[in-house]
Amino acid sequence: MPRLFEPTTAGQIQLSNRVVMAPLTRNRAPNAVPTALTTTYYQQRASAGLLITEATAISHQGQGYSDVPGLYGTDQLDAWKHVTDAVHAEGGKIVVQLWHVGRVSHTELQPEGGKPVAPSAITAKTKTVLIKDGVPTFVDTSEPRALKAEELPGIVHSYTVAARNAVDTAGFDGVEIHGANGYLLDQFLKTGSNQRTDDYGGSIENRARLLLEVTRSIVDAIGGGKTGIRLSPVTPANDVHDADPQPLFTYVVKQLASLNLAYIHIIEGATGGPREIAERPFDYAALRAAYREAGGKGAWMVNNGYDLALARDALQDGADLVAFGKPFISNPDLVARLQQGGPFNTTDKNTIYGGGAEGYTDYLTLGAQS
Ligand SMILES: Cc1cc2nc3c(=O)[nH]c(=O)nc-3n(C[C@H](O)[C@H](O)[C@H](O)COP(=O)(O)O)c2cc1C
Repeated sequence: MPRLFEPTTAGQIQLSNRVVMAPLTRNRAPNAVPTALTTTYYQQRASAGLLITEATAISHQGQGYSDVPGLYGTDQLDAWKHVTDAVHAEGGKIVVQLWHVGRVSHTELQPEGGKPVAPSAITAKTKTVLIKDGVPTFVDTSEPRALKAEELPGIVHSYTVAARNAVDTAGFDGVEIHGANGYLLDQFLKTGSNQRTDDYGGSIENRARLLLEVTRSIVDAIGGGKTGIRLSPVTPANDVHDADPQPLFTYVVKQLASLNLAYIHIIEGATGGPREIAERPFDYAALRAAYREAGGKGAWMVNNGYDLALARDALQDGADLVAFGKPFISNPDLVARLQQGGPFNTTDKNTIYGGGAEGYTDYLTLGAQS
């Protein structure tokens, strides 16, 4: 049985253990540029086998929240290079989560105050965060406009440029394509948000087309061994739902199988909520089996509500990596704490989004507390 604290690989990335830090948006990047605090934050967490950064916009159009970072300007790439250098100096590995929010945005965050873009002009019943005078406020997302088919190659291009710059300029070990949580690629996948009648809507093949075009293009640019993807088959996050997710995601992972990806990252259940949703049943073991039967060799990463016991069970059942989200906010040395069975710091809920060092870089390690 694979062991949580033993080294492994995900594609071309060598990991010192199977504990992964899940992507966590922290809204501490004014003007979409990470700061020196961001460098400290990730460096403190470098004992994870793999760090996945907070979601990072591939373009201005891909932005959906105040003070989240981007990857489309030289100042952003320079700032991320400080982060990756610091993580590598600690012996850690780090990939960046590539993000286009689609309709989960607000006109105030879009180029020239335009409408956010989406597969179809259907407003998401969800909120985004605007930070005014340092105070985060939740606001309704704006009504989107449907993307024209001729705009889609430009979006594939933005993803690809971001991936290449992430590896070549910013020094990341790879990228994670954000295909989860109701953002652009997930909006295209699912029937509730995609009512297109062209080659990108209707059938499963059509709804999966954009996600697969993005993935293939990134793989061509940086190699499958440095490319991971995150999927959330049944999450209700950001108002997404699909009429029949099992065949949809089975098709997606079968298509991904031939791309030699570093890993497939699956959120089980409702992101940050119940792992089982009665009205949205899903067979994750069957999904992994479909990927393996189609020849998929990437590491299988699981997430959502894991603790040490659940993580060990998951490895026994065939998962390769376990991603922890919330526990990493207040436990920079989560690996050491899991290894010795705790104790774990509690999280201050008031300092999760926005602000400075407090609740970000001031959680102590076990060594500092003893
Ligand atoms: C503060 C916070 C920010 C998050 N930001 C992201 C994000 O940027 N990208 C993403 O894919 N998921 C994001 N998530 C979801 C987490 O990656 C993870 O799926 C979720 O917290 C469940 O895992 P956990 O039970 O280990 O926390 C976020 C969750 C939290 C609590």
